[in-house]
Amino acid sequence: MKYKRILLKLSGESLMGNKQFGIDHERLSEYATQIKEIVGMGVQVAVVIGGGNIFRGIQAEEGGMDRVHGDYMGMLATMINSMALQSALEKTGVETRLQSAIKMEQICEPYIRRKAVRHLEKFRVVIFGAGTGNPYFTTDTAATLRAIEIEADVVLKGTRVDGIYSADPEKDTTATKYKTITFSEVYEKGLEVMDMTAFTLCNENKLPIIIFDMNKPGNLKKIMDGEEVGTLVEF
Ligand code: GTP
Repeated sequence: MKYKRILLKLSGESLMGNKQFGIDHERLSEYATQIKEIVGMGVQVAVVIGGGNIFRGIQAEEGGMDRVHGDYMGMLATMINSMALQSALEKTGVETRLQSAIKMEQICEPYIRRKAVRHLEKFRVVIFGAGTGNPYFTTDTAATLRAIEIEADVVLKGTRVDGIYSADPEKDTTATKYKTITFSEVYEKGLEVMDMTAFTLCNENKLPIIIFDMNKPGNLKKIMDGEEVGTLVEF
């Protein structure tokens, strides 16, 4: 097994599946199955999930809403997705704990790093909700911050695309996929991997990133088996 402890970042938008809004339960249970598979291998799994299928802070600002207000609404949206994922995981028999960056005592534990690590050591999947708890930060940043805090071996960013390309593959037919790429190459070429705050946090803390297609069943396990899936950003 290649990694002992991982932080899996899932996008809220991909939870929509083929729907226009909200949560596609089939997609959710596919994700839960993939996570269960690697927990069964003995991988310690923490998850951060976005909220874009429900609410996006940036769009709120475009509509004239205060950005900070919109960002907090986005954090609540991540909590809805986190609760849905928690429920889907528990349905498959995986033990979970949900921790929120914003206190919601009736719903889940508050974020406490040492408690999160203890849960992971007991092979409970720990879901971190409500982003970093601060406006102006994305869930990518929350994912990298938590990954560093819990000393994860890698951040896995599950998206709809299967890696990092030299150009946008939807617009440029000559675009090629990188199997591996260095942090400095990403900076030099101006490629988009994560938002810059998140990416820099990984770079400064020597945390590798894997960008991969989470919608392809079995991919998560393949990565744990050491197969080359997606793109690895390394040093
Ligand atoms: P151990 O220390 O290994 O026993 O971990 P544990 O999570 O089982 O212990 P704890 O007694 O803290 O938690 C039992 C259950 O209560 C778990 O499902 C927790 O997620 C939940 N829980 C703990 N703290 C809170 C809280 O502040 N709010 C809510 N809603 N649930 C909590």
